[in-house]
Amino acid sequence: MTKKICLTGVKPTEMPHLGNYIGAIKPAIELSNSDEFDGHLFIADYHSLIGVHKGSELRDYIYEVAAVWLACGLDPEKTTLYKQSDVPEILELNWILNCFASKGILNRAHAYKAKVQDNEDHNRDPDYGVSAGLYNYPTLMAADILFINSDIVPVGEDQVQHIEIARDIASAFNHHYGDIFKLPTAKTREGALLPGLDGRKMSKSYHNHIPLFVPEKKLKKLINKITTDSTPPEDPKNPDDSLIFDIYKFFANDSQIQNLKNRYAEGIGWGHAKLELFEVVNSEISPLREKYNHYMNNKNLVDEVLAEGASRVRKKAMENLRQVKEAIGVL
Ligand code: TRP
Repeated sequence: MTKKICLTGVKPTEMPHLGNYIGAIKPAIELSNSDEFDGHLFIADYHSLIGVHKGSELRDYIYEVAAVWLACGLDPEKTTLYKQSDVPEILELNWILNCFASKGILNRAHAYKAKVQDNEDHNRDPDYGVSAGLYNYPTLMAADILFINSDIVPVGEDQVQHIEIARDIASAFNHHYGDIFKLPTAKTREGALLPGLDGRKMSKSYHNHIPLFVPEKKLKKLINKITTDSTPPEDPKNPDDSLIFDIYKFFANDSQIQNLKNRYAEGIGWGHAKLELFEVVNSEISPLREKYNHYMNNKNLVDEVLAEGASRVRKKAMENLRQVKEAIGVL
C-alpha cells in the first residue's frame, strides 16, 4: 500500500528557539521519521523573499534552517528534504493555481488583512507596503502542498487558514477538470508550549527566548535569567509553582524529575535549581549543537542532501504537473 504523503514547509529565518524545538521541530521530526508516512520537509525560501531582501542573509538562513533540522535528527533517507526554489514545477503550478484562487479569499488571508489593518490604524493607504508576493503568499503555499498531492500537512495553528485556502483552490480546479488534486488536511500540534524566561510563552517577540544553538556559556547565562521569587534557599518549594521546574519537565526523564521534586521539598536554592536545569537542557542540546556546527562548517554536506531531495521530489512533481497541464489543455 502506498503511504500517505506528509509534507510541511519552514521559512528560512533567524535561529529557532527552544520553544520552537520542543513545540514544533521535535514532534515534526518524530512524525516524519516514523514509518507511517512518506515524509517531506522543505525550505520555503521563495516565501522568505517577501521579507528578506538581502541575498547573503537569505543564503545564510537557508543553510541554518537545513542544518538545524538535520542536527535535530531529520533523517534525509526517510524524509525528503529539499529547497522550494530547486523545484521549478512548484512555480509553474503556482501560476496555474493563481487562476483558480479567488481574490475575495486572498483578501481575507490573515497576514494580508493584518497588514491592511495596520495601515488603516496609521492612516496610510490600505495597501501601503503590500507586495503582490505577500498578497499571493497563500497561492504559492497551495502550490507547495498540491504539487505532489500531499495528504497531511502538519502546521501550527496560525497556518490552518492557509491549508483551507489550498483546499479551496484545489476544489475550484477540480470543479472544472475532475479529480486532479487531492484535498490536503491540516494536522495541528497540541499542547507542548514551552514557557520563556519570564513565564509567558517562549517567543522572540517577548524577548524571553533561548536560541536553540547558543554556546554553552551563553545558555547558562540565559537560564540564570529565569524569573524566580525571593523565597530563602532552605525553604521547601512547590514544583508546580516554579518556572524552572516547568521548563525542566520538558528535558528531564522521570527519575530526574522525581529527584528534583525531592530537592524542592527539602529546600533548594534557585541558583542550584537553575544549574540542574542547565544540565538537562545542555545534555539534550549539546550533541545536536555539535552536529549543527559540523553541517555549518561543511556546507557541501547540506548541498548534497538538498540536491538529492530535490531530484527525488522532482520526479513526482514532473509527472503530476504533466497531468495538470494536460487537463488545462496546454499539452
Ligand atoms: N507559511 C508557513 C509558515 O510560515 C511555511 C510554509 C510555506 C508551509 N509553504 C508551506 C507550511 C507548505 C506547510 C506547507 O510557517
